[in-house]
Amino acid sequence: MIGISRPSLGAEEQDAVREVLESGHIASGPRTVAFEDAFAEACGTEHALLVNSGTAAVEVALRATGVSPGDEVLTTPFSFIASVNPLLLMGARPRFVDVDPRTYTLDPDLLEAAVTEKTKAILAVHLYGLPAGMDAVREVAERHDLAVVEDACQAHGATYRGKPAGGLGDVAAFSFYATKNLTMGEGGAVTTDDDEVAAFVRSYRNHGRPPSTGLGTYEHVQCGNNFRTSDIHAAIGLVQLRRLGALNEQRRRNAERLSRALAGVVPAPFVPPDVEPSWHQYTLRVHDRDRFVQEMRDRGVQCGVYYPRVLYEYPHLAEYASPCPEAERAAREVVSLPVHPSLTEAELDAVAEAVRDVLAHAPDALPDPVPDPVP
Ligand SMILES: Cc1ncc(COP(=O)(O)O)c(C=O)c1O
Repeated sequence: MIGISRPSLGAEEQDAVREVLESGHIASGPRTVAFEDAFAEACGTEHALLVNSGTAAVEVALRATGVSPGDEVLTTPFSFIASVNPLLLMGARPRFVDVDPRTYTLDPDLLEAAVTEKTKAILAVHLYGLPAGMDAVREVAERHDLAVVEDACQAHGATYRGKPAGGLGDVAAFSFYATKNLTMGEGGAVTTDDDEVAAFVRSYRNHGRPPSTGLGTYEHVQCGNNFRTSDIHAAIGLVQLRRLGALNEQRRRNAERLSRALAGVVPAPFVPPDVEPSWHQYTLRVHDRDRFVQEMRDRGVQCGVYYPRVLYEYPHLAEYASPCPEAERAAREVVSLPVHPSLTEAELDAVAEAVRDVLAHAPDALPDPVPDPVP
């Protein structure tokens, strides 16, 4: 079976872990600091703070912008649940705005109308590694004095108008989960240019200790949590970060190979001008997706469905439902093909061949094309 993801880990990562274990210092320490410095540089931000998951990163990023109980945050209903669970845990409320059907990211034209007097922030998710339309997001945010938070959990190394994801808003959240473009097994990071935001995250992730103090003190200046990670994770991350450019380049080449092989069979994923995605996923649309996924499986290819429901269809989010027809349509139609950097050319060709074969046997398998925007 050709899998939808496979972490790319080798001898360098193994050596890095062995070194940490032999050093005797496994809690967060010098490797964490080294990773944070290197990751901030890669994102073009002043600060990067390592935490123990992308979910923790989203939560602490939102908290750092001052989002409080009762506040509203404009966001997409077409994402992983971890984009919005942190909001609920903080007592804040998501206000869902529909997506652009070509990019699957927030439709900037709908944002303005969704702002209320309770709106505090916009949480833009760079789904599948494609940065959201951040110029428009920022314009709306500036007009209404809102914070801009990026959920960049799928977008390591992606760029928007030449700028890396992570530096496109006031604060950003990354995940280093096993399937991500850069992995530590589990992990996350917050990036920002704002010194106060960075100080808040530094303190909050460490049970509210003063930002400048380490573990051995029992001074607590605010409430907080244990969102720390370890030097074992950071050591893996340092190697992965050095390899990220090459890994992403391989994803890009894989995506191109798939698009070439499927030209005329199914429309390739849309990439707006001035955007370089991280190709976290290579996503198509089909009718009767369950059948497509099963038939691909029968031909030895595992597909992914990210995500099969819009977020307000989950019971704990039902009260925030607002009609988002494009997100609902996407949730019915999207299917992702393997594009990860460990695939061989033969495997990629087998994936494309399987798609051709499945679609040849189901001539009405493609949905109506997504229309181009009105000029
Ligand atoms: C868009 C998005 N947001 C948030 C998260 C949460 O990250 P984690 O799984 O590291 O908690 C993920 C990753 O799974 C994600 O893809």
